[in-house]
Amino acid sequence: MSAQPQPRRVENLHTDKGKVPVYATGIVEQPWDGYTTEDHATWATLFARQRELLVGRASEAFLHAQDAMGMTPHAIPKYAELNAVLGAATGWQLIGVEGLLPELDFFDHLANRRFPVTWWIRKPEQIDYIEEPDLFHDLFGHVPLLMNPVFADYMQAYGRGGVKAHAVGAEALQNLTRLYWYTVEFGLIREHGALRIYGSGIVSSKGESIHALESAAPNRIGFDLERIMRTRYRIDTFQKTYFVIDSFEQLIEATRPDFTPIYARLAAQDSIPAGEVLDGDHVFQRGSGEGWAGDGDV
Ligand code: PHE
Ligand code: FE
Repeated sequence: MSAQPQPRRVENLHTDKGKVPVYATGIVEQPWDGYTTEDHATWATLFARQRELLVGRASEAFLHAQDAMGMTPHAIPKYAELNAVLGAATGWQLIGVEGLLPELDFFDHLANRRFPVTWWIRKPEQIDYIEEPDLFHDLFGHVPLLMNPVFADYMQAYGRGGVKAHAVGAEALQNLTRLYWYTVEFGLIREHGALRIYGSGIVSSKGESIHALESAAPNRIGFDLERIMRTRYRIDTFQKTYFVIDSFEQLIEATRPDFTPIYARLAAQDSIPAGEVLDGDHVFQRGSGEGWAGDGDV
């Protein structure tokens, strides 16, 4: 884990992402005037493509929230403009960052209703896949649901839980990270009896938006807190398992209890491979496993 980041001045940044160190940290003012025509075009392309794909696939809460925020394909949104809407709705604020933050900084921001959004957007050749989160993933994927009062509370609670887990130790953090992964990043929700996407890692990816709902390969299993906290995951392929919630209320209720005894209990148990189905699972679909890489679970 790196030391406390030094805030960087916007003047030192370039829209050429090559000049920005990977995993560099620090809060920046969104250098909006520095976005190129190509940057805006990348946003427009991704926005239009995902919106078309997500109608009927993403949760109504997500689509509704995104509309309410006023995000459009025409230009990369200004964080300051989104903040006016978001602040009035749920009190959340976006802050510009260079990239992934040290864990404790990230948790602290969430605990204070600040959501870090990467300022730079991917290059055209990265339209379909990018290894680190960029503006499109963060803004299009994560931010809309912060307009939803229940999900907004969940994210803050997660941040507080993160500060706590950080003090408990590395294993507790790993348990909590898995929860984030299988809910915030890759969660599915049941709406009107059908499965829909709400996870930001899915909604910001064309391939995974289709895969998560329509492929026969992955498992789709009902939400179970401790089971999820034991389950390893994929960072370089589509998920082998998606977990399904019934509502955001279910999520916030299930995660309300103090996790301290849960961390202690989980410490004595083995982790579960990403693709495994257990006897007690509520299985919506047992995956065929087709195309799965045999190793590489994180
Ligand atoms: N209730 C959890 C704890 O005591 C905090 C938390 C809330 C964690 C929501 C994740 C999501 O640690
Ligand atoms: Fe993310």
